[in-house]
Amino acid sequence: MQDGRTTITQFIIEEQRHIAEATGDFTSLLNDIVTACKVISNMVNHGALVGVLGAAGSENVQGEDQKKLDVISNDVFLKSNEWAGHLAAMASEEMEDIYHIPDLNPRGKYLLTFDPLDGSSNIDVNVSVGTIFSILRCKGDCENPTKEDFLQAGTEQVCAGYALYGPSTMMVITTGKGVNGFTLDQNIGEFILTHPDMTIPEETQEFAINASNGRFWEAPVKRYVDECLQGSEGPRGKDFNMRWIASMVAEVHRILTRGGIFMYPIDDKMKAKGLQGKLRLMYEANPMSFIIEQAGGMSTTGRERIMELQPSDLHQRVPVILGSKTEVERVTAYHNENKEADAA
Ligand code: AHG
Ligand code: MN
Ligand code: MN
Repeated sequence: MQDGRTTITQFIIEEQRHIAEATGDFTSLLNDIVTACKVISNMVNHGALVGVLGAAGSENVQGEDQKKLDVISNDVFLKSNEWAGHLAAMASEEMEDIYHIPDLNPRGKYLLTFDPLDGSSNIDVNVSVGTIFSILRCKGDCENPTKEDFLQAGTEQVCAGYALYGPSTMMVITTGKGVNGFTLDQNIGEFILTHPDMTIPEETQEFAINASNGRFWEAPVKRYVDECLQGSEGPRGKDFNMRWIASMVAEVHRILTRGGIFMYPIDDKMKAKGLQGKLRLMYEANPMSFIIEQAGGMSTTGRERIMELQPSDLHQRVPVILGSKTEVERVTAYHNENKEADAA
């Protein structure tokens, strides 16, 4: 831009210039995603004024009650991204099956997965929510993609990002060359680069976990949290602070800004229901892990690197432990020690 500010479009075009085989498809796809996020941001901002709050009266494939804005945001994402010919198909947390591009439209070489509204339990109480997305290459038959085409490890992601609808609307993206943050200038309708090269501080004194599940946690998680709570009198020798927003986007954004650790581990309550975790691998865990790793952090299930998991199902859930490297390493080490103790 002439005033010396860089828009997200300009940023992506400049980044793609260095890629010999880039056709402009990716830049254009990202532009459509950005537009969708601006539309959702506008609705979130207007809230009750435009009648978008409250329950939709339906359930998604995971048996969760849908909010009106879950359904509307999902629709906005589909409509913004189905027409331009960059995508072979889409998959969303809110839809049981993959979404085929309508026959009228051309098909492209990318696959898009998304959580249209993350943290939607916060929407009616006017607390931050977000959108999470991930772009994969369609490696099979791009004219007739199937669910299996989506089942790629997180390491295969071409791009991941989120929009945070908070006091200001931000977009944070990675294409595997670091993490950059953009703030929406509402007056001109453009995302402006405000947070170049975001990196997570290694040392932290802040943790985020839903402590109401405490009695169901596994021993390594109990140990870690207990040591944090003991503060300067315990083995960590320093006091910790705790946060829980119940919007993964907002938690990850805080961690990118000032460090910390976020945990949604597997627990006995989930195991009893046959669940492998709470958060979804394709729509939440993988994109956020890509961003966190690109910012110098770490992301595991407590046992394995999330990005290396081979997905077996579109709606697969996984335990998530991510954030500042030293803390995630510690929790992962506690899991490993526990495994050795169990085996002995
Ligand atoms: P979603 O609104 O897309 O279903 O995701 C909510 C997720 C995540 O963003 C958040 O960290 C977590 O669920 C909150 O779970 P609890 O309500 O169990 O705390
Ligand atoms: Mn979510
Ligand atoms: Mn959601």
